[in-house]
Amino acid sequence: MEHRVFDDPQVVQQKMIAVRKQGKLIGVVPTMGALHEGHLSLVQQAKRDADFVVVTIFVNPTQFAPHEDFDKYPRTLKQDLEQLRELEVDLIFTPANESMYPPGYDTFVEVVESAKRFEGVSRPAHYRGVATVVLKLLNITMADMAFFGQKDYQQCCVIKKMTADLNLPVRITVCPTVREPDGLAMSSRNRYLSPEERTQALVLSRSLTLAQELVDDGMTDTDRICRMMREKIETSPLAQIDYIAIADPVTLEELATISARPQSQTTGNSTRAVVLLAVRFGATRLIDNTLLF
Ligand code: PAF
Repeated sequence: MEHRVFDDPQVVQQKMIAVRKQGKLIGVVPTMGALHEGHLSLVQQAKRDADFVVVTIFVNPTQFAPHEDFDKYPRTLKQDLEQLRELEVDLIFTPANESMYPPGYDTFVEVVESAKRFEGVSRPAHYRGVATVVLKLLNITMADMAFFGQKDYQQCCVIKKMTADLNLPVRITVCPTVREPDGLAMSSRNRYLSPEERTQALVLSRSLTLAQELVDDGMTDTDRICRMMREKIETSPLAQIDYIAIADPVTLEELATISARPQSQTTGNSTRAVVLLAVRFGATRLIDNTLLF
């Protein structure tokens, strides 16, 4: 195994205690591997902000329901390590399932309200698994800061809520979604799409752009905006909409109207709402979102 790659949680924690003693700020990028430009942008941000950068690669079984794609989730460790070597990441943590969840494992973290809606409806236990593994990864790596992509907007909200509610001394940084030149949000699951599905999936980013245009034109009724987005997405015969929702960017409570003056402190004064969607193309379920200003 390469000298910077470790799979034993205890070994990593001991190393990280030593890194901390040197006074270095530790930045962690948790991933499930199958790395793409979106992940690499998180690593680059971590390198700018932290003194010591850790990337974790772990396809976390507890965030997949039995019928979901855990077994077929892309695992591309060799290529992932090559990409991370080029970025000169300080440490890579690639634990096995048994070391993260040994026999008798019995503790889970549940963020209640913000995990219930949207993704939580289709994937009821998903964020319980995410919150649990992220807390474990933060503890093992002794992170001062952790980096997540806005592409998984609700996940970012759940993780921020968990760190606030549990008083974790970790700063959560949300980095912008990285898109293909044609607008498709980068995702490890894009590789499941057939060429036809891939083409039709462009309606997602186009419908998000439409939402901002409608808001720019003065539309504030979220039902109307969602309806027009739905019509745009339905121009793709392969698209099966799971949800389209417009919500408060911090609490994720659904909004009936988009107000002129946002209350949000976290996402800055000009953010008025977030629009989130999940749409299936064949067997592949894609999510995307954008902040509305
Ligand atoms: O976003 C992901 O890749 C995963 O949900 C995460 C945060 C690494 C937890 O397994």
